[in-house]
Amino acid sequence: MTYARIIGTGSYLPKKTLTNTELERMVDTTDEWIFSRTGIRERHIAADDEKTSDLAEHASRRALDSAGLQPADIDLVVVATTTADQVFPSVACLLQDRLGIHNGGPAFDVQAVCAGFVYAMDLANKFIQCGVVGRALVIGAETFSRIIDWTDRETCVLFGDGAGAVVLEAAEQPGVVSTHLHADGRYHELLAVPTGVSINYKQVLKGEAYTQMQGSEVFKFAVKCMVDVVDETLSINRLNKSDIDWLVPHQANSRIIAATARKLSLSMDKVIVTVDRHGNTSAASIPLAFDEAVREHRIVPGDTIIMEGFGGGFTWGSVLLRM
Ligand code: ACO
Repeated sequence: MTYARIIGTGSYLPKKTLTNTELERMVDTTDEWIFSRTGIRERHIAADDEKTSDLAEHASRRALDSAGLQPADIDLVVVATTTADQVFPSVACLLQDRLGIHNGGPAFDVQAVCAGFVYAMDLANKFIQCGVVGRALVIGAETFSRIIDWTDRETCVLFGDGAGAVVLEAAEQPGVVSTHLHADGRYHELLAVPTGVSINYKQVLKGEAYTQMQGSEVFKFAVKCMVDVVDETLSINRLNKSDIDWLVPHQANSRIIAATARKLSLSMDKVIVTVDRHGNTSAASIPLAFDEAVREHRIVPGDTIIMEGFGGGFTWGSVLLRM
């Protein structure tokens, strides 16, 4: 049996930060409202000339450094993103070229919004398990600030930009133990950017492709799905709650994270939380949080970890892994 092991991690945040106090000057909101409802204090915003592929490149190079590898050692590039630089080619192809990976290995993007990184891990894991590739670079990267209406207080306070990456390598021991993916397209209208190439294209041309969200409806589903997928992960693997060392959840809202931790009977000091400083960076949030915890030596070899994501679609899922 072949497994995919994480052998390197990296992340990148744009230099510019946007605090709640600064947002108070932009829309009718308060630091108190934002922090008490979401746990967010500040988020990072990409510079005007900074693209998703730029963020992805920084995170990738850091992950390759930490793995002690060169770009040419990578056989597969998978980028989870909702905010690709352009309609096509994919960010993965742009990144493959930028990194100098010219070995003809596959490269593609995955679009599952905030669950994107979990979806990307599932796919890369399967490529490695099947023996198709030996090493994969898996990235979550977003410039979500570009699809935010900065006059809409209900959404603009929530999101931020960033990128995180992991390098996976084939190994005899897990590594990734199991992955669990779900989607329910009936709820596509509750959280969406309802513009694109084949609908409302004129709004795209006018620069008006913005995130719309029915926040409290999304909140209820997010809590249920995040809790259910943890139960599913534990029961399929015949694990007890006490077997889990770390939870690395999607960073949308500290109240959703706390509800999932309660369900796992996991104290909050075993949950990686970055939402206070990053906001919701969509597909980048899990690998950003994961890299931070690895670099701070909180997550260490031998730990058992659940990553879990929830996003528009709805899409949700988890990855159970051993370091
Ligand atoms: N500042 C001040 N007041 C605000 C703001 C703001 N920024 N935004 C909304 N309000 C007001 C609303 O207008 C409403 O006012 P009203 O009662 O007079 O109508 C009031 O605050 C309460 O609004 P609610 O929506 O009930 O607030 P709630 O407690 O649900 O919190 C939030 C809102 C933070 C958006 C929450 O619903 C949430 O986190 N939802 C889930 C987000 C999520 O998980 N997304 C996951 C995936 S994201 C992706 O895939 C892209």
